[in-house]
Amino acid sequence: MKVDGSIEKFYQYSFPMQTVLVTCKDEHDKTNVITIAWHTTISKKPPLYGISLAPSRYSHDLIKKGKEFVVNFVYYNMVEKAHFCGTHSGRSTDKIDKTRLTLSPAKKVKVPVIKECYAHLECRMVQNLTVGDHTLFIGEVVAVQADENAFKNDLLMTNKIQPLYYIGGNSYTTTDRLKKKEF
Ligand SMILES: Cc1cc2nc3c(=O)[nH]c(=O)nc-3n(C[C@H](O)[C@H](O)[C@H](O)COP(=O)(O)O)c2cc1C
Repeated sequence: MKVDGSIEKFYQYSFPMQTVLVTCKDEHDKTNVITIAWHTTISKKPPLYGISLAPSRYSHDLIKKGKEFVVNFVYYNMVEKAHFCGTHSGRSTDKIDKTRLTLSPAKKVKVPVIKECYAHLECRMVQNLTVGDHTLFIGEVVAVQADENAFKNDLLMTNKIQPLYYIGGNSYTTTDRLKKKEF
């Protein structure tokens, strides 16, 4: 039996959503970090990645002005830090300092990567689209770095890498108990 869902909460049907930390910089070179679940690959050639941000986020204006961002893929064991960065604003809190996340230089963009994450997509903004109540920032992926153990034969090694997933409310999960089927 199925029950009618709420259109207001349609987005919950795509849970679990992989949750990432996006880094960006202000005009004084200070780095901010925002937790997001609304993000996606958009195109292979050219390599484009999209992130959807509400205009109220401090990071929204930083990315609009700075035109660069890095998508950092988070391990489940970083859940407290990711939750903190998703519930505090860089307008009033230095989230890098408070979470003790470590920044390290990116290869091609000025915005740094977060060292503790297992992969990073360095993006240069090519477009920003107002889409409903969010802005879709589309970035060209200009460099990629990943933990050497993350992929084998192009498969994500889920026994070694346990990504962070958001399931709604204040709750998160990861892949280690999910069933896996190989064809
Ligand atoms: C799990 C999780 C996922 C989130 N996903 C998004 C998202 O996709 N887009 C967005 O604009 N905000 C999202 N947020 C909210 C922002 O992370 C939050 O408002 C943050 O404090 C904004 O930081 P800033 O003001 O420093 O940019 C999410 C928060 C959490 C906890």
